[in-house]
Amino acid sequence: MTIDFSGQVAIVTGGANGLGREYALALAKRRARVMVNDLGCDSSGRGNDVGAVEQVVQEIRNGGGEALSSDCSVTDNAGVLDMVERTVRQWGRVDILINNAGILQSGYFARAAMADFRQVVEVNLIGSALCSHAVWHHMRRQGFGRILMTTSEGALYPVPGAASYAAAKLGLVGLMNALSAEGRRDGICVNTIAPAAATRMTRDIVGTADLARMDTATVVAAALYLVSAEAPSGAILAAGAKRYERAYITHTQGLELPELSLQPEGVGAHFEAISDRFGDEAPQGFHAVARGHLISPGDSR
Ligand SMILES: NC(=O)c1ccc[n+]([C@@H]2O[C@H](COP(=O)([O-])OP(=O)(O)OC[C@H]3O[C@@H](n4cnc5c(N)ncnc54)[C@H](O)[C@@H]3O)[C@@H](O)[C@H]2O)c1
Repeated sequence: MTIDFSGQVAIVTGGANGLGREYALALAKRRARVMVNDLGCDSSGRGNDVGAVEQVVQEIRNGGGEALSSDCSVTDNAGVLDMVERTVRQWGRVDILINNAGILQSGYFARAAMADFRQVVEVNLIGSALCSHAVWHHMRRQGFGRILMTTSEGALYPVPGAASYAAAKLGLVGLMNALSAEGRRDGICVNTIAPAAATRMTRDIVGTADLARMDTATVVAAALYLVSAEAPSGAILAAGAKRYERAYITHTQGLELPELSLQPEGVGAHFEAISDRFGDEAPQGFHAVARGHLISPGDSR
């Protein structure tokens, strides 16, 4: 099965550098028409080099592809709506959105400035929500859509030194979960990638030996699969250094305690048994209350 995006239209945010640039070029190579968005900031969100996105658009056109550019921030709702409208006016549809634009501000929580924390959440989480919302009704109308969120292993697992980034990036998993459930009936699949690649974002925080193994091709292959017609929905796929692993949020089998043990001491006494991972499950909806009897979304409203 060859994955081909002929006739399809993609939007890639943060497409001027790093992974976004590679996604945009790879989608165009497989015949997608691509709207490349980028504010042109550094990896912590500072600066504004609007020329960077034009270079990628030019590169696609030089290769015989079709591309447009948008230099708005993904946090600028009016700019995002305009970007999506221009895309649809030019090409009549929007099939794929890769929410790739992201910034990282490292530092321990004790010394974090809350204005900076808010900016990281704003770009990574709210920016992805604004872009997803702007394409959503077009995808519903078409009965087809593919949206990719970008998380990080630094958010899926306990890693110190970037609390704002971890909070925002795990928020995207929640957004994916909800949108994949809501999009199913309209042919919209929503997935999440957890990449590991040598880019300017990782250059200063990953050791040289690991960086040398962190090719971008591994990540690009996963991303393109996750936005293809064959894509699953609701998957978190870690990709890096020629390896792919799927991440799940799981529940343990747990314990139902007798009435007398429903005290903090009772929970403490049984915490080890409650935490036993034997027979872990990855629930597909509300789970803890009605184990084995999933509450459907309709029941829970
Ligand atoms: N490289 C990795 O190993 C790695 C690991 C985990 C997650 N990620 C995530 O993957 C994505 C791509 O990262 P990268 O390594 O290519 O970094 P990068 O810094 O090379 O690229 C990020 C791009 O996003 C753009 N951008 C930032 N804020 C924006 C905004 N508000 N509006 C529009 N564009 C904006 C930047 O200008 C830049 O071109 C990011 O979301 C990042 O958090 C990367």
